Amino acid sequence: MNPPTDSLVEKVALITGAASGLGEATVRLLAACGAKVAAVDRDEAALQRVVDDIINSGGSALALKADVTSADQLAAAVEQINQAWGRLDIVVANAGINGVWARLEEIEPEEWDQTLNINLKGTFLTVRACTNLLKNTGGGSVILMSSGMGTRMFSTSGSSAYATSKAGMVAFGRMIALELARHKIRVNTICPGAFATNIVKSTTFRNNRNLHLPVLFPDGKVPLTGGPNGSPIQVARVVWFLASDLSDFVTGTEVYVDGGQSLLVG
Ligand SMILES: NC(=O)c1ccc[n+]([C@@H]2O[C@H](COP(=O)([O-])OP(=O)(O)OC[C@H]3O[C@@H](n4cnc5c(N)ncnc54)[C@H](O)[C@@H]3O)[C@@H](O)[C@H]2O)c1
Repeated sequence: MNPPTDSLVEKVALITGAASGLGEATVRLLAACGAKVAAVDRDEAALQRVVDDIINSGGSALALKADVTSADQLAAAVEQINQAWGRLDIVVANAGINGVWARLEEIEPEEWDQTLNINLKGTFLTVRACTNLLKNTGGGSVILMSSGMGTRMFSTSGSSAYATSKAGMVAFGRMIALELARHKIRVNTICPGAFATNIVKSTTFRNNRNLHLPVLFPDGKVPLTGGPNGSPIQVARVVWFLASDLSDFVTGTEVYVDGGQSLLVG
């Protein structure tokens, strides 16, 4: 069941990584709930397809090509939102990659930098670019897309750069939740479990066979389902809740969306 179609009317939302996976499910749901959505991604063709779909379904959407590692491109995207709609209420910093999964000594320094630059610095740059417009709007809701990996789960050896970037997002989220509270800007972090998206395509697996510890999940992989993983809409609905005024006393916290999986494999 999805939230009411008028629940985000008058709100303007920016979502990064909106061309695929969790970001795509989120941008579609927020638009279906009445928000004007600015969909940001570096993959222009895929982004345009998503935005065309939203507009054809009667929604309001802008396709804004930007790389989240570029402060200038993000500033230009936010300026376009300001020109078009004059406000910003919701920011979903979701763009991310898995990067290189390999033994510690086989991760090149520049590969480490790439993962940290997109996932962690990209999150900082996204929120940084949006802060003035959020303040001018009189408040808002920022949602960061971290992960169970690096925050509750540490058993996927090889993903140390990814896990470190996701752990950093939790600290960043808590820090800015306090800093921005006086401006009525809430900041929360979602930690998803495993979802079937295109993220595996952004992963380079290098000699990581036999690297993982043989962690066994009792009674199936996901406690809540007894097996199957969730689907992206289940993350999008939590984004909706954190974006909506129904969560107006919630800030500075993490929400795990994983059917209880991360509780099994610390
Ligand atoms: N899928 C999962 O199981 C899972 C689990 C935990 C956390 N996450 C997190 O959720 C977020 C979304 O992942 P997903 O699974 O939907 O992946 P995905 O690969 O399906 O989508 C990611 C999107 O981000 C875009 N992107 C990547 N780098 C970018 C950059 N530098 N600038 C702009 N756009 C960029 C890609 O083009 C793509 O459209 C990521 O931060 C990921 O770490 C995913």
